[in-house]
Amino acid sequence: MNYIIENATLVNEGITSIASVFVKNGIIEKIIPADGGDGACLISTDKNISNYNVIDATGLLLLPGAIDDHVHFREPGLTHKADIASESRAAVAGGVTSFMEMPNTNPPTLTQQLLQDKFDLAAEKSCANYSFYMGVSNSNMDEVLKTDPKRVCGIKVFMGSSTGNMLVEDGGTLSTLFKEAPCLVAAHCEDDATIKANAADFESGELRVESGVWRVESGEWRVESGEWRVESESFLHPVIRSVEACYKSSSKAVELATKYGGRLHVMHVTTGKELSLFRNDISLKDKRITAEACLNHLWFSDKDYERLGNMIKVNPAIKAETDRLALLNALVGGRIDVVGTDHAPHTLEEKMRPYAIAPSGAPSIQHVLPCMIELVNKGFLSITKVAELMSHNPATLFNISRRGFIREGYHADLVLVDPHKPQVISNDGIFSKCGWTPYNGIELHSTVTHTFVNGELVYHDGKVIDGVRGMRLEFNR
Ligand code: DOR
Ligand code: ZN
Repeated sequence: MNYIIENATLVNEGITSIASVFVKNGIIEKIIPADGGDGACLISTDKNISNYNVIDATGLLLLPGAIDDHVHFREPGLTHKADIASESRAAVAGGVTSFMEMPNTNPPTLTQQLLQDKFDLAAEKSCANYSFYMGVSNSNMDEVLKTDPKRVCGIKVFMGSSTGNMLVEDGGTLSTLFKEAPCLVAAHCEDDATIKANAADFESGELRVESGVWRVESGEWRVESGEWRVESESFLHPVIRSVEACYKSSSKAVELATKYGGRLHVMHVTTGKELSLFRNDISLKDKRITAEACLNHLWFSDKDYERLGNMIKVNPAIKAETDRLALLNALVGGRIDVVGTDHAPHTLEEKMRPYAIAPSGAPSIQHVLPCMIELVNKGFLSITKVAELMSHNPATLFNISRRGFIREGYHADLVLVDPHKPQVISNDGIFSKCGWTPYNGIELHSTVTHTFVNGELVYHDGKVIDGVRGMRLEFNR
């Protein structure tokens, strides 16, 4: 099907403008800007459009589809939580047209064959475009170095333990990685020794924090100031997975990448303190060290543990409100380059377990674009910045071929958003297999109305259209 998206408000490359976009054979064929007058761009009276399906986009925003550089879709091996089919449906509902998936599946993605198996699964099942990270262990460097930089988004290293036990601590492995990796190295940074020491204190019932000491008394945690918390111990997550743990590990990653000339991308930065490690005085194209922030850390803060408990137990932990505000500032100031989701579903049953044994991670992809637009409404950033952080910059940072911008000749990965169609997020409407979201009950002012992947309409007015398949991302490297 070919489309004319007529009279839309394009949000693209730093400006918003009225235009009509022709989509033919999966590609953005032409962009016709409004030519003065009343500012409208109505072309459906044109005689040569009989082969096109005209979509009236008057009053709607047209953005390049979001490229999410950080998802956990759980296939193979953990498909009781999620799978590529279910989560790619959640993705397109959230305005995400391409995703890059992490290696902590079961088995973990530690060989080229296992990596290829994931690409094969996605070709069969994914309704969004896809790529997969190669994983690193302490003993698979020969496999890692075989990674094809033109066909694989990057290499993921856990320099902090998280879901999946893929921690890499061996100094030799890390230095070889930053010296010889054929493409970008994406790092999860949380210092394991710091976390282990804090976790041991937690187990012993006494945790030291800046404001004093938390102690267990009669089975309840109490801080010296007298404040009591009894609902869930999850509010201690950012005390255990602390600012210091993040800073120590991110600093080490930056140090190693600088020493060996590696191309480092620090995933899900969560603290104001880490921001000084990243530059905002050079253009993205020239950076060798880049940073990502994720929606959960931009949306929630430690104030939310009381209400949401383990539902927002994620690694690295959601930290203080001051950290959240610092991250939002860094989106605008240029130290953070991209926004991803870290969409990481677990079952509700798993998340209902006591704090210490509930897994970390939460789903978030299905509402990421309207949530980011809500942050625009709250005055934190501009709508053009959202397109930059979620589409243009991921495309530039990963050197993705012909995606991430609304340009003639590019793949037609496009999203229409009605900025005046409010919605209340509900667990009832979740496409993710887990069937819940920490965003349940949140009111948003905007709604994704249409999502196109490679020129095909895959999501419209709350429904995923069956049968559309995404493509493997290609990289100009
Ligand atoms: O919270 C998280 N969940 N952080 C990670 O690093 C992994 C992820 C998961 O896979 O559940
Ligand atoms: Zn992750």
